[in-house]
Amino acid sequence: MSSPVSLGIDLGTSELKAILMDLDGTVLAHAGVRLSVSRRHSGWSEQDPLDWWQACLQALEQLRTHDAFARVACIGLSGQMHGAVLLGADNRVLYPAILWDDSRAVAEAEQLGPEFADITGSLPMAGLTAPKLLWLQRHEPEVFKAIDCVLSPKDYLRLRLSGERISEMSDAAGTLWLDVAQREWFAPMLRATGLSLEQMPRLVEGGAASAVLTAQGLGLAPSVVIAGGGGDNPVAAVGIGAINAGDGFITLGTSAAIVAITDHAAGNPASAVHSFCHALPDRWYTMGAMLAGASCLRWVTRLTGMPDEQTLLDQVQAQLPIEQPVPLSTPLFLPYLAGERTPHNDPLLRGGFMGLGHDCTPAMLGYAVMEGVGFGLLDALRAVQSAGADIGACALVGGGARSEYWAQLLANILQREIFTLHNSELSACIGAAKLGFVAYGGVAVRASMSIKARYVPNVAVIATLQRRYRKFQNLLEAARILRD
Ligand code: XUL
Repeated sequence: MSSPVSLGIDLGTSELKAILMDLDGTVLAHAGVRLSVSRRHSGWSEQDPLDWWQACLQALEQLRTHDAFARVACIGLSGQMHGAVLLGADNRVLYPAILWDDSRAVAEAEQLGPEFADITGSLPMAGLTAPKLLWLQRHEPEVFKAIDCVLSPKDYLRLRLSGERISEMSDAAGTLWLDVAQREWFAPMLRATGLSLEQMPRLVEGGAASAVLTAQGLGLAPSVVIAGGGGDNPVAAVGIGAINAGDGFITLGTSAAIVAITDHAAGNPASAVHSFCHALPDRWYTMGAMLAGASCLRWVTRLTGMPDEQTLLDQVQAQLPIEQPVPLSTPLFLPYLAGERTPHNDPLLRGGFMGLGHDCTPAMLGYAVMEGVGFGLLDALRAVQSAGADIGACALVGGGARSEYWAQLLANILQREIFTLHNSELSACIGAAKLGFVAYGGVAVRASMSIKARYVPNVAVIATLQRRYRKFQNLLEAARILRD
């Protein structure tokens, strides 16, 4: 086939995105289909896997109008991690997929305890897959008995594309059923959740040719190869080019994370970091994960009645210019709108403002929110460092990367150069398409994503931010008291 094209698909929580990319790394076309989340009860978060497949078909429909579609030679898959897709013997979906931000399994996570955390790379947390299965065993015994296989979200798309139950190391690590250092299923953890190896999909590496396309009617050749792919964070890392120890990035989307690539499994369960497999062989990453990131800015925009985030950001810059230290009387914000993973491992923790006065403006609240998320990322970075991992200059991706103010504030708080990238909202799709090419024949994409802007720490504001960070840390105790 002349000049092959890779189809990169990223199954997000709010949108499924797909791109066509050539070997120069040029994105030739992209498509997006919105997804909604069902919240039947407080703390629950579910989607219907059939909706994912429909969204995938619609995205392919959009891409089909582009000439390059006929040259698709390979597919790479990326997706939201830690979701549980429950299949019966006939591959029928038995129950809505329980997503990464679902907190129903708090008691089950506690029950599993830290015993295997050094092997599985993370403490059991309600959002990870394994505790969800223990919850099902207890609360939906009929569904649990019928489970023949548990898949991660993007692996359900592979099942529909190829008919095969296959996963790969990076999503498997996010289930808590993997021996992360050995890169193989870990039977004792499966047993602790009432499951066996037979209920797990076959494992491959992210760049391996996992299966070939068998689904009919997509307008694609039957020989198209499907790469292992990976979870959204490790695949975004591939997209950005964060592939060697010491590389790192921050993702500021609905959730937020700081990710440091390592050449060994570098975990420290006590600080609630995750040490998971990268989507590339012989690579791992240590991640500090926050449950609310750019979603905090969306929330405060609505709360203050601003028409959009940019209006609020303009007011923040006008009243609290990024070049100057903020007055110490500016309120502080704890960003735990959805609880927190790293370093607190507490899905029931809640956020708050402190230090409000009659003079408090929407801009001051907007600033406090961006700073509070930044301080949360600093907590996460310290936790990552406690596991022996580290990062230098660091890419910023996700919706939050659109704000120059926020990028500069993060450089000041984390005391690292932060850079943004062109096409960064597509980094997981780009990473998936790159893995597609690797599976197609070990071919590496020639170019990586180009830098859009660089932000270096401003020494004039660092002392003020350090004082404010110490105050932020002291507020945690109050948040814990309110929780109980
Ligand atoms: C990572 C995580 C989220 C989800 C949703 O640990 O929970 O990033 O993958 O995107």
